[in-house]
Amino acid sequence: MRTQVGIIGAGPAGLMLSHLLHQEGIESVVLEARSRQYVEERVRAGVLEQGTVDVMVETGVGERLKREGLVHHGIELSFLGRRHRIDLSGLTGGKAITVYAQHEVIKDLIAARLAAGGQILFEVDGVSVHEIQSAAPKIRFRERAGGERELSCDFIAGCDGFHGVSRPSIPEGALTVFDRTYPFAWLGILAEAAPASEELIYTYHERGFALFSMRSPAVTRLYLQCAPDENLANWSDGRIWEELHTRFRTSDGWTPAEGPILQKSIAEMRGFVVEPMQFGRLFLAGDAAHIVPPTGAKGLNLAIADVRVLARAFAEFFKRGRGEKLDSYSATCLRRAWKVQRFSWWMTSMLHRFPGDAGFDQRRQLAELDYVTSSRAAMTSLAENYVGLPMG
Ligand code: APR
Ligand code: PHB
Repeated sequence: MRTQVGIIGAGPAGLMLSHLLHQEGIESVVLEARSRQYVEERVRAGVLEQGTVDVMVETGVGERLKREGLVHHGIELSFLGRRHRIDLSGLTGGKAITVYAQHEVIKDLIAARLAAGGQILFEVDGVSVHEIQSAAPKIRFRERAGGERELSCDFIAGCDGFHGVSRPSIPEGALTVFDRTYPFAWLGILAEAAPASEELIYTYHERGFALFSMRSPAVTRLYLQCAPDENLANWSDGRIWEELHTRFRTSDGWTPAEGPILQKSIAEMRGFVVEPMQFGRLFLAGDAAHIVPPTGAKGLNLAIADVRVLARAFAEFFKRGRGEKLDSYSATCLRRAWKVQRFSWWMTSMLHRFPGDAGFDQRRQLAELDYVTSSRAAMTSLAENYVGLPMG
């Protein structure tokens, strides 16, 4: 098999890259370990920055997003029993976020690629990359039906997430890893209950952080801070609701509406960046290159930002024979990735209870929340990061 860009991974990064390359008339093949059904049902985050929405709409895959996405012009910070609204749109000249589940983005991109004749090979095994420092790198893999295969490419895009094979295929000495694990995790649930508030609520509580979000007018998405090694089996539905009400209840009595819990999961909290994000003709994008704690709702959006840069760089190379944008891919993406890492770290450190805090940290956090909700300058800084820094 042969293509211009071999893409490993059919998550947001890999599928959006394949879609953007197709817009430029550049061929690609996407290799995915899981089944189509699995990736289209995998519950992940659900907040799209303005820039991500713009890319989808401008490149013709935003129709359902425009119909079904929930546009939000603000978020709320809740602490000491009171909720404080951050006017995202008013502070950013009209930008907004859109609540639209990541797996819906995946469905839209897969449908668009297949309708355009794109090649996505699902349920492939044993993917390995070869000769990445040559002008003809290769991807070897096994198809469930077809046996051993080899895909010859001009370039390989490693969009295979944090646990993929791309990053480990780069020689150890060629990469520098920056890694921070946080001393807590998030227990997340999907509940069949109409959201009891219009906008997202990030809640600071002495027992720990809690987040009120949603997926649709009928499904609420809720998270609560838990121990990093939390065992989901210890959390009955009743215990989850009791803890959520304790953390969310405000002095006016508001608390999320209950409903049957459809899904429970534990998400680790980590900050991770690898430098550089490229080696030879292998380019890393999305979670393969960096992980951010979910507090800023940035993971999917940063993956899209990476592949927008990468798609433009490939277009420069294939259509105009120029390699400068490919050479500067990593530096360009890391500039944004570290600013997103900073914002996600800031939101996380402001809103979570850190073990061993003897009280100083708690007072500092409450002062930070008081400042952010009473200073226009501080609110503007939060808002411009939350809706998404300019994509450049
Ligand atoms: N071979 C083929 N496919 C693989 C392999 C492999 N060896 N390893 C992983 N994959 C696939 C996974 O099954 C997954 O579908 O690569 C895809 C990677 O997708 P994501 O993990 O979603 O990563 P990315 O596209 O960078 O999107 C980042 O998704 O995971 C969330 O929190 C993350 O919101 C962020 C966003
Ligand atoms: C979600 O709806 O899943 C969500 C929203 C905001 C976040 C993280 C997750 O910061």
